[in-house]
Amino acid sequence: MDIKHLKDALPRIVTELPGPAAKAVLKRRASAIPSTIACVYPCVIAQGAGAMVEDVDGNIFLDWVGGVGVLNLGYSHPKIVAAVSEQAQHYFHGMMNIVTHEPYIALAEQMNRIVPTRGTPRQTMFANSGAEAIENAVKLARGATGRPNILVFNGAFHGRTLMAVHMTGKRAYSKGLGPFPDGVYRVDFPYLYRRPEGMSEEEAVRYYLTRLEDALLQASPPEQTAAFVLEPVQGEGGFIPAPFAWVEGLRALCDRHGILLVADEIQTGFARSGRMFVSDWWADGGFAPDIITSAKSIAAGLPLSAVTASKELFDSLPPGLLGGTFGGNPLACSAALEVIAAIERDGLCERSAQIAERARAAFLSWQDEFVQLGDVRGIGGMLGMEFVRSRAGREPNAALVADIVGQAAQRGLLVEAAGIYGNVLRFLSPLVISDAQLEAGLSILHDTIAELTSET
Ligand SMILES: Cc1ncc(COP(=O)(O)O)c(C=O)c1O
Repeated sequence: MDIKHLKDALPRIVTELPGPAAKAVLKRRASAIPSTIACVYPCVIAQGAGAMVEDVDGNIFLDWVGGVGVLNLGYSHPKIVAAVSEQAQHYFHGMMNIVTHEPYIALAEQMNRIVPTRGTPRQTMFANSGAEAIENAVKLARGATGRPNILVFNGAFHGRTLMAVHMTGKRAYSKGLGPFPDGVYRVDFPYLYRRPEGMSEEEAVRYYLTRLEDALLQASPPEQTAAFVLEPVQGEGGFIPAPFAWVEGLRALCDRHGILLVADEIQTGFARSGRMFVSDWWADGGFAPDIITSAKSIAAGLPLSAVTASKELFDSLPPGLLGGTFGGNPLACSAALEVIAAIERDGLCERSAQIAERARAAFLSWQDEFVQLGDVRGIGGMLGMEFVRSRAGREPNAALVADIVGQAAQRGLLVEAAGIYGNVLRFLSPLVISDAQLEAGLSILHDTIAELTSET
């Protein structure tokens, strides 16, 4: 199938999975690359267009993982392909510590316009991966405040470099890899579905705010604390939105003590939430982070990440502390410029809200149908469903989620698990999905859940 037709195709599985050609590639994979780079899907991609992937055997999958939030604009967006091809005709390397290239500057200008950090004028630096953006945000926060400690949250995911993986909650990602960099302390995240028994949501928000105060008393005193780093919606941790009232309280606490607030918008950014950033929702309430990290969908699949903050904060670092060989690569920057243009031109924030409305309505109706579906939550098109063994006990049901992921893939739908307990299904559909594809995906997912829950 050519790419143009693939874009509008519906899921279609024509071989057993993995098919013969995929099996051969997977065999080479098992031999050539470390098994610790884990993968649970039987899909070997031949080409992608929009929300759809065609594998090497001609099977067509609907991709609701999108590289875990990389593909808000889908595969092979024609305008992005054209922008990257055009840039490649001229040059595709220019290290900003050596020669200056304009795509880096043009993109920084756009980021300074759209990324809602506190304080103007803003500046932006680029790196290659989300983890690198986090590393640079930590360097900036420490350098600007002269304080050593970083406070992070239970359930957080910030990447796989040694600092980022140490800032990540789930220890399974860092088991046996220490010693880790010093100065990282962990605080409770307001996971409202699992809040202490008997508390209302409002009481729980107040309770989780007291946990923050407690951390400054018992873990890292304010004068030693450079920043709180949080995901506005925890991704890997289970698609858990930070309640706005709690973020507002966290912001006020930071201000009382001269602590910086870093929003890791690596998964939540670029129209996923119905706004360009979740921080845009926060801005409506009158509060903003000091530093925002972005990556993932920023360049539609080319490796790129960013740290945005006020010029005043960046100015506190002496020359030479930030940079790197590949950060802000010209091909990636030209893709990102087109990503921003396409989101604004094609109304993808509005489309994200529309998709979310349809998906959320479906998921909520499934809650009436399946007792195992304990919670439906999220912001905009970043939706999660938490599965449990019983509604009353809320015991995590990771086995059911693993089965749903496996069975849905067999039917042509790629979805991914998340959550500290592995019992959350995440919805990260490309925002360029058609209505027919969205309905097809919902139908596959519904039937898969129905079949698997009727067996338990
Ligand atoms: C919120 C968040 N931060 C950081 C990262 C790390 O990004 P990368 O894998 O590009 O290093 C991820 C990746 O999943 C993420 O979701």
